[in-house]
Amino acid sequence: MARAFVVGLTGLGTEAAARDIEFAKKMTRLELDAEQFGNEREKRHVKAAVLWGRGKHHEAAATWDRLLDDYPTDLIAVKFSHDAHFFNGSSSGKRNAVEKVIGKWNADLPCYSYLHGMYAFGLEECGEYAQAEVEAEHALALNRFDCWASHAKAHVLEMNGRHREGKEFMYNTEDDWRQGWMLATHNYWHTALFHIEFAEHESALEIFDREVANRFNRTNSLLDMVDASSLLWRLELEGVNVGKERWRKIENLGKYIDNHSIVFNDVHLGVALYRQGELETENELRSSLDKYSSLLSEDNAQISKTIGMPLYDGMLNFAHGNYDTAAEKMLPIRDKVVQIGGSHAQRDMFVQTLIQSCILSKDANIWSLTPRLIGERETLKHDSLLGQRLAEKFRAMHPL
Ligand SMILES: [Fe+2]
Repeated sequence: MARAFVVGLTGLGTEAAARDIEFAKKMTRLELDAEQFGNEREKRHVKAAVLWGRGKHHEAAATWDRLLDDYPTDLIAVKFSHDAHFFNGSSSGKRNAVEKVIGKWNADLPCYSYLHGMYAFGLEECGEYAQAEVEAEHALALNRFDCWASHAKAHVLEMNGRHREGKEFMYNTEDDWRQGWMLATHNYWHTALFHIEFAEHESALEIFDREVANRFNRTNSLLDMVDASSLLWRLELEGVNVGKERWRKIENLGKYIDNHSIVFNDVHLGVALYRQGELETENELRSSLDKYSSLLSEDNAQISKTIGMPLYDGMLNFAHGNYDTAAEKMLPIRDKVVQIGGSHAQRDMFVQTLIQSCILSKDANIWSLTPRLIGERETLKHDSLLGQRLAEKFRAMHPL
């Protein structure tokens, strides 16, 4: 069970996938041992973890879900199902994994409070903000160190345009959530997003320098790489010159170019490499992703082919200043980007880039779509000051 847990955690942490020889061997050995020595429940855990590791992401999520039908208090199955649905872009899956078991728990069971934090995040991603906030607060009342619950609350405040409250909440509870080191970088990233909404770019840069970059260099985790890349990219979209040196603080990215656990990571990796001036490595990443995406046996490969590659090309074309091409690549897939996983708040980076591509386009057929895209963003993310700035930029560049 411990080995199934480690394989599941490594796969869901997106640190390794089937192309990692050592990880592939570890999965095979685990399967053989599970067959010989495991009980029925352990075998099912191994099956799910190995399915995930080999890129069968939807079948893995379904396997953890079925485990929960028989063992509703299996916290590993709850957490792994919740995370698998997160990476599969299934908001309802994320919510349902917890919803279907929470009533079957006894509040005295160890770790009970964490269910409320997970449930809060699932509800938030489904747009059920009021209930999500109640659940997050309930979780934090039971355990103020539940960084996933703090994170869920940050999402609610972000999506509802309650940015001032969000900033206050993050700073007032920083000593609690930063102890959850695996998520601390991401919670700092959320704090920086609240600053960006108010165009407080220096404060966001300070968070990058003090926390995000340093934490990535300690963990070398791809989850932290995503936050670092996303934060600098968003500041650049706001017109901030973050400087190549800051991009270079996200060090040693070359080792990740054949990972392809999830294409969401590859897109963040590609823009970081390009901005660092690592053009050859960026080209190698794109070639590797292109080759990988023809491996249709993996769910992530199919998504890479249909959605990930056009998104990657759209983002890189934007980086090159080819705004028309960037928009042409991203417009047809914009409703499907959810399938690459991540949260609404994370994918807003792609939404913002598409809107900026349209604003900067020379083609009237493209730039005239801008108000519609800003409206779509506003529907999902209410009262965004950043959205107002995008609208002002559009009016300034395309006066009626
Ligand atoms: Fe988040």
